Amino acid sequence: MCGIVGIVGKSPVAGRLVDALTRLEYRGYDSAGVATLNKGRLERRRAEGKLFNLQKKLADEPLDGTIGIAHTRWATHGVPNETNAHPHFVEGVAVVHNGIIENFSELKEELAAAGAQFATQTDTEVVAHLLAKYRRDGLGRREAMHAMLRRVTGAYALAVLFEDDPSTIMAARSGPPLAIGYGRGETYLGSDAIALSPFTNEITYLIDGDWAVIGSEGVAIFDIDGNRVSRPRQITQAAAYLIDKGNHRHFMEKEVYEQPEVISHALGHYVDFASHTVKIETGAIDFANVSSLAISACGTAFLAGSVGKYWFERYARLPVEIDVASEFRYREMPLSPSQAALFISQSGETADTLASLRYCKDNGLKIGAVVNATESTIAREADAIFPILAGPEIGVASTKAFTCQLAVLASLAIGAGRARGTLDAADEKELVRHLTEMPRIMSQVLNLIQPQMESLARDLSKCKDVLYIGRGTSYPLAMEGALKLKEISYIHAEGYAAGELKHGPIALIDENMPVIVIAPHDRFFEKTVSNMQEVAARGGRIIFITDGKGAAASKLPTMATIVLPVVDEIISPMIFSLPIQLLAYHTAVFMGTDVDQPRNLAKSVTVE
Ligand code: AGP
Repeated sequence: MCGIVGIVGKSPVAGRLVDALTRLEYRGYDSAGVATLNKGRLERRRAEGKLFNLQKKLADEPLDGTIGIAHTRWATHGVPNETNAHPHFVEGVAVVHNGIIENFSELKEELAAAGAQFATQTDTEVVAHLLAKYRRDGLGRREAMHAMLRRVTGAYALAVLFEDDPSTIMAARSGPPLAIGYGRGETYLGSDAIALSPFTNEITYLIDGDWAVIGSEGVAIFDIDGNRVSRPRQITQAAAYLIDKGNHRHFMEKEVYEQPEVISHALGHYVDFASHTVKIETGAIDFANVSSLAISACGTAFLAGSVGKYWFERYARLPVEIDVASEFRYREMPLSPSQAALFISQSGETADTLASLRYCKDNGLKIGAVVNATESTIAREADAIFPILAGPEIGVASTKAFTCQLAVLASLAIGAGRARGTLDAADEKELVRHLTEMPRIMSQVLNLIQPQMESLARDLSKCKDVLYIGRGTSYPLAMEGALKLKEISYIHAEGYAAGELKHGPIALIDENMPVIVIAPHDRFFEKTVSNMQEVAARGGRIIFITDGKGAAASKLPTMATIVLPVVDEIISPMIFSLPIQLLAYHTAVFMGTDVDQPRNLAKSVTVE
């Protein structure tokens, strides 16, 4: 994940900015840079690789100035080199950015047609050019910032320095977090409280849509319509070395809300946001020539793989055999070197999954590892590593790792489809375009559903049993929803294929056991509605998770209906994960359980 820091100071800032970046290194990055404004001139130092390289540059060519911004970059658009490193300069404007500017291609074309000269492959540069254009058109700094924010779309956090204003930094948040820190005669900006902890523990988190003018004499915060707003100041407990909960009560909640940001980094590794194509180094896994794919994992990772099975079979016409790792190798399934195997693991240390990997390796299969921990044992023993780039996941209940695993599996399935000729270039472009929209849509959905999830969780916390049902990729999602609920609230829950209801579970239906129906308006919708009718006819209470089309199509009475945006099937599992994650989270909070460290559970199960 990228990191942003800014200081409006009373003393030189360059060294302090880079020190603050070191506290954001845990987020992962591949280049860094710092810019200051001194005697009316913007100057910058940037370096590829680790912060040491930037610190060396600064030692050789120091930067003066008591106001500045700095950035660690995780490359999404353009290779990780010095040219693409932030801050980006255009005609007296300096910009650092975290996230994705979704419409950067059209903006770049429009600006280039008007004569803008682009120096980098990044999406960020269009922000700097837009601001420079508005200033040339005579807009003031605030008007230019507001006009730019109304043009760009996507999930982003921004910090901006104008060469003609030595007293303020401008900032904006729409997705990735951004916090303002208050010091003695100084003001700070950072991606989280860790970056700011050596300067201050009094901070304000901007919320989505906010933008701010940060000066040494004070801070002005505005909403997207330009209305002045106020946001609470809070005292953080974060010690510099701790990975911080930010302005959340639990790591799990923080990690749910990090998903728009981290999923954009996962996607940035596998797709090209400009051409809407996949760019995957599959290494030893030659999807064009494998006869079939075996997938094995545990828990939530297994359920991600279960969603991935639908995609590999549908888009790549690749047969997939999947099983939980603790069963996989004992089935003695026929295996041959013509097959490939994928092992999915957040920790990369799960003993059952590792044992299955070694079983496949002994049978001559090519091994791919979809992991968060890329130095883990599973990663080291695989022939090809597919990182999910979710950043550290502290909560035992897996959330952002799950959706990042899905994003990687979707990208791999599209890549496999192209390699096997079952998807043409137009199919690829369409599917990748939907993937590119995901960070923004996730951000919108999280803000949209939060209040409803909290009030619904109050009812759910009084239940003893809950049933989740779904069809197609919503079936593994139903099982994931049940797993999330039971593992952190300790309420018994089951996930079932909706079509299986009449083959037994319907005997359970009564007014005491809510049935959570996961049903985007897709190919299976009508059939799932008929399952809902079976539940309603027996006095069952339905919690209906659907989209705008689904809500309009079904007139059945429900306990609650959660309406999400209509999205393509390639991203509906990621979008529909959000309500089931938040429902489980808020239910557990009402139950008073230890949300981040539920009883009996470990973050990584390294025993069989
Ligand atoms: C997920 O919420 C659970 N904590 C658990 O099922 C987890 O997914 C499983 O133990 C696999 O862990 P891994 O991804 O690190 O291999």
